Amino acid sequence: MAKAAILHRYGEPLAVEDVEVAGPKRGEVKVKLKAAGLCHSDWHVIQGQLPLPLPIVLGHEGAGIVEEVGEGVTSVQVGDHVVLNWVPSCGRCRWCRTGRPDLCEEAARLTATGTLPDGTTRFWWKGKTVYQFLTAGAFSEYTVVPEQAAIPIRRDVPFEVAALVGCSVITGVGAAIHTAQVRPGSTVAVVGAGGVGFNIIQGAALAGAKQVIAVDVVDEKLAATKTFGATHTVNAREEDAVSAVLDLTDGLGVDYAFEAIGRPETMADAYNMARKGGMTVIVGIAAPHETVGINAFSLPSQAKTLTGSWLGQGNPPVDYPKLLDLYAAGKLKLEPLISAVYSLEQINDGFAALKSGQNIRGIIRFAE
Ligand code: APR
Ligand code: ZN
Ligand code: ZN
Repeated sequence: MAKAAILHRYGEPLAVEDVEVAGPKRGEVKVKLKAAGLCHSDWHVIQGQLPLPLPIVLGHEGAGIVEEVGEGVTSVQVGDHVVLNWVPSCGRCRWCRTGRPDLCEEAARLTATGTLPDGTTRFWWKGKTVYQFLTAGAFSEYTVVPEQAAIPIRRDVPFEVAALVGCSVITGVGAAIHTAQVRPGSTVAVVGAGGVGFNIIQGAALAGAKQVIAVDVVDEKLAATKTFGATHTVNAREEDAVSAVLDLTDGLGVDYAFEAIGRPETMADAYNMARKGGMTVIVGIAAPHETVGINAFSLPSQAKTLTGSWLGQGNPPVDYPKLLDLYAAGKLKLEPLISAVYSLEQINDGFAALKSGQNIRGIIRFAE
């Protein structure tokens, strides 16, 4: 038995209940969770914006210790510290074979089914199947995931920090470094300064951007972006964000604009903030039926690159350890991203804080 936070119906609070967690089958790993971050992607599901089978254990930004390994597992051992990888790529599909594991077909399938590769899950509640979000199901004391979804990491970093690397850090830093490939001396705008946005900001700063403009609606968080490398801030509640960014760049627009909220309007803003020939990277996730309104004439006449970034275009087995090494070397600030720590029982308080935008990141610390 394990305590897990379950979403039974869209729009309702999560229910913390006792679930049965089966042992790992062949090629699977059972993980005892130590920490799990509250990400806006979980919140999108709670609100019903990303339809998935219910009931489901949410949570995908998690770190813990390997408790048990199934037959045939070779890459991790009992006792290893691991970060969950919510895009457990197959290594065989056309995307994996061409160096894009972030776009893996099999991982995308599992995102939609809420199951492990064999179509079943390892969670049961009152005799019913409970699905696992992004194979991870991290809002549970224990979870069982495919071997490639448990990435071994160095043991000298706190679990809270390791958990963040699992989603917000790889997504944000990766969007700046892998997708945009921000150049030294360039100009950047980041719309949405949450867990992901802060990491885009520090990724851009790490890459040598000379100007990084943070756009949000919460003044305290905007102030905090300055310690992560933002050079200017814009409160989108007080002024028109696009005009403010144009004013700050002599009317040109920025070399790279990022959206990290998940709203069509702010995605269009990010497009309009990029200079001619510049790049806009959409990181936020909108609901599947939504569309973005951008000026059609501007497409050829301004020749901007409009692209997206999933998992920071990263490869977790390589990037999680690398990002933790950057943290250990003092090049990435991760502890200050954690604004609040909750117990699993307090998870709905954490999501209320996420909804109001008050935390950079809220994190669940599991009881011993
Ligand atoms: N203009 C500017 N900022 C806004 C606006 C707005 N209109 N509305 C909300 N924000 C800010 C919030 O104040 C908050 O700081 O956007 C930020 C979103 O941050 P989080 O809720 O922490 O979201 P995060 O987990 O960072 O995810 C951002 O990336 O991976 C995706 O699914 C994820 O779509 C989500 C996005
Ligand atoms: Zn996430
Ligand atoms: Zn694949």
